[in-house]
Amino acid sequence: MSTSNDFFISLLSGAAAGTSTDLTFFPIDTVKTRLQAKGGFFQNGGYKGIYRGLGSAVIASAPSASLFFVTYDTMKLKLKPIISGFLPGRENLSTTITHMISASLGEITACLVRVPAEVIKQRTQTSISNSSLDTFKILLKNENKEGLIKGFYRGWSTTILREIPFTIIQFPLYEWLKKTWAQKQKTQTVNPIQGAICGSIAGGVAAALTTPLDVLKTRIMLNESRVSVFYLAKLIFKEEGFKVFWKGIGPRTMWISAGGAIFLGVYETVNTLLTSVKKNK
Ligand SMILES: *[C@@H]1O[C@H](CO)[C@@H](O)[C@H](O)[C@H]1NC(C)=O
Ligand SMILES: *[C@@H]1O[C@H](CO)[C@@H](O)[C@H](O)[C@H]1NC(C)=O
Ligand SMILES: *[C@@H]1O[C@H](CO)[C@@H](O)[C@H](O)[C@H]1NC(C)=O
Repeated sequence: MSTSNDFFISLLSGAAAGTSTDLTFFPIDTVKTRLQAKGGFFQNGGYKGIYRGLGSAVIASAPSASLFFVTYDTMKLKLKPIISGFLPGRENLSTTITHMISASLGEITACLVRVPAEVIKQRTQTSISNSSLDTFKILLKNENKEGLIKGFYRGWSTTILREIPFTIIQFPLYEWLKKTWAQKQKTQTVNPIQGAICGSIAGGVAAALTTPLDVLKTRIMLNESRVSVFYLAKLIFKEEGFKVFWKGIGPRTMWISAGGAIFLGVYETVNTLLTSVKKNK
């Protein structure tokens, strides 16, 4: 088995999975952003222009999903023997830890593309009539003189703060559900549909639990000035109470659990397909 071939398969599968998920669930994502934004749903656009910001999501989704899977698949292979070495005789525990660390590293890598795309997307979703390109140009002008990188990467640390607990819940749960299901039916692996169902459950649980971090991320990305996450969290709590941190939990859980199913289902399908094509050559 050649490594560059496997790399390419991960890349294509991740790209296909990311694009189909983002296209399908964009309107639900817009509703969520507008619910979480300061002022609430109707003040930030309501049901109007529900596809506003789609451009930035489409452009970013294939590269960020590919970055995630390439990192995840590569690190899983590289880290397994190292972590097993530290935990002799604890095969299952070291597998879980390997998956968690690999997925977290995958998320951090994907954020290189995902964060600037999210800043553009969320600002466009809550604007009256601007397109992704308009928002991009405004950020390029860098009117706050904060520096281009800081402008495009605002909310970077909060995004990672959200992704890591998300991943630590989702991926081991996903791998565990798949393994348990396969053992139950006495097969080597589960089929793509079963894999999708496992992904859906795992994603929904992780999404619901990490909603407060998602609200904070949205508020930071939408804020005109640079604010520290702890300061903003205290301010929001003081002004709007605790409940505001759970805004958008419905759409978030719904789109990530349905999206997780589609994402991982497409990923597994494309992966299985390409792997069998490769074997038959
Ligand atoms: C570890 O995993 C194997 C299969 O991969 C399973 O048979 C075994 O019961 C698991 N052990 C524990 C302690 O969960
Ligand atoms: C929309 O675009 C205009 C000009 O292109 C800009 O002045 C305005 O701030 C933008 N609105 C938002 C919410 O980004
Ligand atoms: C941006 O952050 C400041 C605190 O630095 C806060 O007062 C303001 O309400 C925030 N604006 C939005 C739109 O969230």
